[in-house]
Amino acid sequence: MGARSLRIALIGGTGHQGPGLALRWALAGHEVLIGSRRAEKAKRVAGELSERLKALGAEYEFGHGLNQDVVGEADVIVFTIPFVGVKPTCEALKERLRPGVIAISPVVPMVKKDFGLMTDLPPEGSAAELIASLLPEAKVVSAFHTVSANLLLNVPEPVRGDVVVCGDDVDAKRTVMELVRDIPELRPLDGGPLAYSRALEMLTPLLITMGKRIGQPDLGVKFI
Ligand SMILES: NC(=O)c1ccc[n+]([C@@H]2O[C@H](COP(=O)([O-])OP(=O)(O)OC[C@H]3O[C@@H](n4cnc5c(N)ncnc54)[C@H](OP(=O)(O)O)[C@@H]3O)[C@@H](O)[C@H]2O)c1
Repeated sequence: MGARSLRIALIGGTGHQGPGLALRWALAGHEVLIGSRRAEKAKRVAGELSERLKALGAEYEFGHGLNQDVVGEADVIVFTIPFVGVKPTCEALKERLRPGVIAISPVVPMVKKDFGLMTDLPPEGSAAELIASLLPEAKVVSAFHTVSANLLLNVPEPVRGDVVVCGDDVDAKRTVMELVRDIPELRPLDGGPLAYSRALEMLTPLLITMGKRIGQPDLGVKFI
């Protein structure tokens, strides 16, 4: 694990990407909170994830609650929600965030075309830059766009591949790179400023659509 244990709140941690990240960071010793728009759903998923870890011999209780409650004391928040929810969620949460909180965006704005999925970037340039414009007090870092939820969920198996990390705050980016390193065999790469998130957000629909075509549903990326 990195230098210290962090309190990490997963906004919409009840879907596909959130639970895998939650399990990985719990195993690395962080305090992980599952957020949802419905408290009951957050409680149920937190309980299921705690059971998953118990089956691996690890005693761990995930925190849980409404998104607006779990973000309040968090060092790091993660937008594990679809792009459509980003704007209303930022507006609902912005008064609850600690100033200087690190906000990770794995969000990919995607639309269906007749040939497959395609990125549909917002006028701000990328989903991550949209979040940065809506949450000026937060240090937004873009990461995890090319890591399959299925592979993250498959604890304790390692997750091979690279994670390009983009952000304008050097310390926040370093922290997120440590969080990538906390997941066995994933390698963080410093992708530079947040503006490069638009390039990252272009990769995911290609990976998903190509993965279906070639029969490899959990494709990732590796830079050599
Ligand atoms: N799945 C992957 O393999 C993968 C890989 C890379 C990046 N990503 C990105 O990671 C993000 C999360 O992906 P996912 O597959 O976990 O998504 P998901 O399963 O479809 O949704 C995750 C959670 O988001 C919440 N949610 C749904 N609609 C919402 C809305 N309109 N407003 C606010 N919250 C909403 C729901 O939680 P509650 O109902 O509990 O509130 C849901 O459980 C997406 O932006 C995706 O592009 C996913």
